[in-house]
Amino acid sequence: MLILGIESSCDETGVALVDASGTDTPRLLGHALHSQIEMHQAYGGVVPELASRDHIRRVLPLTDAVLAQAALPLSAVDAVAYTRGPGLAGALLVGSGVACALGFALGKPVIGVHHLEGHLLSPFLSADPPRFPFVALLVSGGHSQLMRVDGVGRYELLGETIDDAAGEAFDKSAKLLGLPYPGGPALARLAQQGDPLVYRFPRPLLHSGDLDFSFAGLKTAVLTQVKRLAHARPEGPATPHLADPLSAQQKADVAAGVQAAIVEVLVKKSMAAVRRTGLRRLVVAGGVGANALLREQLGAACAQAGVRVHYPELHLCTDNGAMIALAGGMRAQAGLAGDEDQGYRFDVLPRWPLADLAPVAGAV
Ligand code: KG4
Ligand code: ZN
Repeated sequence: MLILGIESSCDETGVALVDASGTDTPRLLGHALHSQIEMHQAYGGVVPELASRDHIRRVLPLTDAVLAQAALPLSAVDAVAYTRGPGLAGALLVGSGVACALGFALGKPVIGVHHLEGHLLSPFLSADPPRFPFVALLVSGGHSQLMRVDGVGRYELLGETIDDAAGEAFDKSAKLLGLPYPGGPALARLAQQGDPLVYRFPRPLLHSGDLDFSFAGLKTAVLTQVKRLAHARPEGPATPHLADPLSAQQKADVAAGVQAAIVEVLVKKSMAAVRRTGLRRLVVAGGVGANALLREQLGAACAQAGVRVHYPELHLCTDNGAMIALAGGMRAQAGLAGDEDQGYRFDVLPRWPLADLAPVAGAV
């Protein structure tokens, strides 16, 4: 079964073609991505209207590129999967509109996919795919969740952030340090030059006894620290950014301290979830899953506990069309996808808790 997947929930237009036939391991036949990061950088964050317009410009040329990579005609596609939510409404509408138009023209079903289910299942495209059941740590720009995953569509929320997501904590701290958007990778790069022990930042809810996260306090602690360091410098001309008076080493030390705090909380809570469920596999997905320190420390903790840890391929950690095609294919295989009867109505769900993903036929 060949699934064309379209991702357009935020600032990446992703299109991919996945072969999810029978019981074989799913295969990625083609994959193309356009990141809008450069366009949004001038504004320090994603501008929704600009995002939607850019998705419109990119989605069809990317689809052509993917079909050319796979050397297949559009008519070979058996179903079109798209991100139905959560995400930016206008951006989601682009992907869903195009998916429904293609599905209608081809007379093939469309499958509305939950963006986080895409992240969650993305390690199934890796060279070392997981097996159900597993604990999943989902850490992206908008979400931080620990889930118990027993099968496709069988997700139980174990814990989640009560305020900012882990990626948001990276991004906001990076902004306070004057780093460009998106802050996560930039902060991680800067942290390589820093010492994580110079400034100690809070590890919220580390000992709360539950599996919830809280990262909002971290940015306040970073703000306080940056202000303190800035004011400790001799008076100079007013600078455009709060962190400008800091030396390169001070910035790197703050970055290393922040990263260490976020990573420690994620690792400890993940291991607590593993212990609580008694499961022996952990899947890490979402953009923050690309973080090298997180991978290193989780790898060490899991090795010690005898737990297998699985990641998506690095280039499939952040948003992409492959995970949407894959999730669509896996839902279809599990009998959980809708069919043409849904009438190609392209409603999107900008706010869509994963727990509301009903594991019943025709759920899309
Ligand atoms: O999953 P994703 O691409 O988009 C959402 O669905 O949100 O995640 C993007 C988030 C951003 O907050 C970005 O800063 C963070 O993932 N991120 C990282 C790294 N790469 C991406 N955070 C820390 N270290 C990284 N290497
Ligand atoms: Zn995402």
